[in-house]
Amino acid sequence: MVTTVSSKGAETASTASRDRQPQSATLVIFGAGGDLTKRLVVPALYHLVQADKLPDRFTIIGVDRIDQTSEQWCPSLTKMMQTVTPGSRIDDAAWSWLTQRMHYMPADFTQAETFTRLAGLLARQGGKNSIANVLFYLAVGERFFGPIVEQLGHAGLIRQTEEAWRRVIIEKPFGHDLTSAKALNAKILKVLSEDQVYRIDHFLGKETVQNILVLRFANGIFEPLWNRDHIDHVQITAAETIGVESRGRFYERIGALRDMVPNHLFQLVAMIGMEPPISFDADAVRAKKTELLQAIHRIAPENAVRGQYGNGVVSGQRVEDYRHEPNVAPDSGTETYVALKLGIDNWRWAGVPFYLRTGKRLSARTTEIAIQFRQAPYALFRDTPVERLPPNVLTLRIQPDEGLSVSFSAKRPGSDIEIDGVAMDFSYRDYFEPVATVGYETLIYDCLIGDATLFQRADTVEAAWRAVQDLLDTWARAPADDLPNYAAGSAGPEAADRLLARDARAWLPIAGDLLYGKPNKRKS
Ligand code: BG6
Repeated sequence: MVTTVSSKGAETASTASRDRQPQSATLVIFGAGGDLTKRLVVPALYHLVQADKLPDRFTIIGVDRIDQTSEQWCPSLTKMMQTVTPGSRIDDAAWSWLTQRMHYMPADFTQAETFTRLAGLLARQGGKNSIANVLFYLAVGERFFGPIVEQLGHAGLIRQTEEAWRRVIIEKPFGHDLTSAKALNAKILKVLSEDQVYRIDHFLGKETVQNILVLRFANGIFEPLWNRDHIDHVQITAAETIGVESRGRFYERIGALRDMVPNHLFQLVAMIGMEPPISFDADAVRAKKTELLQAIHRIAPENAVRGQYGNGVVSGQRVEDYRHEPNVAPDSGTETYVALKLGIDNWRWAGVPFYLRTGKRLSARTTEIAIQFRQAPYALFRDTPVERLPPNVLTLRIQPDEGLSVSFSAKRPGSDIEIDGVAMDFSYRDYFEPVATVGYETLIYDCLIGDATLFQRADTVEAAWRAVQDLLDTWARAPADDLPNYAAGSAGPEAADRLLARDARAWLPIAGDLLYGKPNKRKS
């Protein structure tokens, strides 16, 4: 069934977005008993209650196979909330505001009958104050996305009217390659119109990622330098100290490239690389991001490195190699690390490499973007003892220790000309009160107000898969024969260093606190 949105309906949605005031709504969570709901969705809702961001007429219906009642569901969530807010008491008023609005429906969401029951419940629970706006949250495994959307369509649950919107949030992973992502988009868009679909990439829920656009476009000093004339290269690092934890079965099929690159890291690439949109309208922003991803060159195998962790020491703890993790094959060829050199084929970035790396069980947990500017001409310092001029680096610290720093050269006090690297540093915590967040608050709130700016459009997802597809195929054809090739707790495989050394460049140290290889002296 194809559902279309009337132009009036679309107008209502955009008006809501302008007001940024959520209308009354019901949130239906498929996968209510799962980890994502407990660890992220419900705590995010709780924080939204505390921030007074939810409408008074708001209802939550949790759907899952576990046979329990609403009275049993809520205490299990309370238990989880205690672990999410360690050390601080749960705000009883906010929590009971939320739990009073929560209902649980035990059901198998592969069965058509579930959706008929759900339709009945949605119609009934509002009574004469029927809440017709419904946000369906698919917090379920990837294989259920298509079938649930189809069933919602058959049951008439996604039909919009002038008074009421229907929207669907779809979690990651959105497909596992270009073909599967296209097939999933085709299936979903048979039932829903694009403006009803909210494909989540949780990196876009991070304040520091959203701040990239503000940094670039609300300041006059960066944009004139933001191009191939001034930037030598860009490094993006998403390093984790955790291993695959209990996700061995999932990770064996996925690996680091699929898990992190076409989604999270490409979102960072797009934010750094996109052209200025003409407005903050969702489609204006998403069109520019998509264009950037479409301009990424095909990644040649010699511009990619894969790695897998062996045993080692992380944060003082001895840890096992990947192949000894639960549900991992003893001869697994799955990569837990990937480094890439990307080229972007447009006027702004031609010839400026974007080096990306991400991995599990690395030496530190840090996600950073480093923009390295071209070196100043050396001539002026030729007759001085200065051996080299360190390049200026603008580092955006996405997490932890959120902030940014600019490194530059300064004269060391004294009668000789000696130059040292110093940094100007901005830390969020120095300027802003910390806000309790699990990273999903803005995303859920934006769905409620109909603002899709931070969500992936069908063509964005496909452009990202297209950029990595050749590499996925090459790697599938030629399994690596040198794994494991990095020790847990290290900075990754040596081959990743060679990838940059070939271009006479080097990775910045992984610990975010180092500048020019020295500790940042500004900090106590
Ligand atoms: C998820 C990946 O999407 O992102 C995980 O599946 C990864 O493997 C996680 O650990 C990283 O997210 P964050 O927000 O912890 O950096």
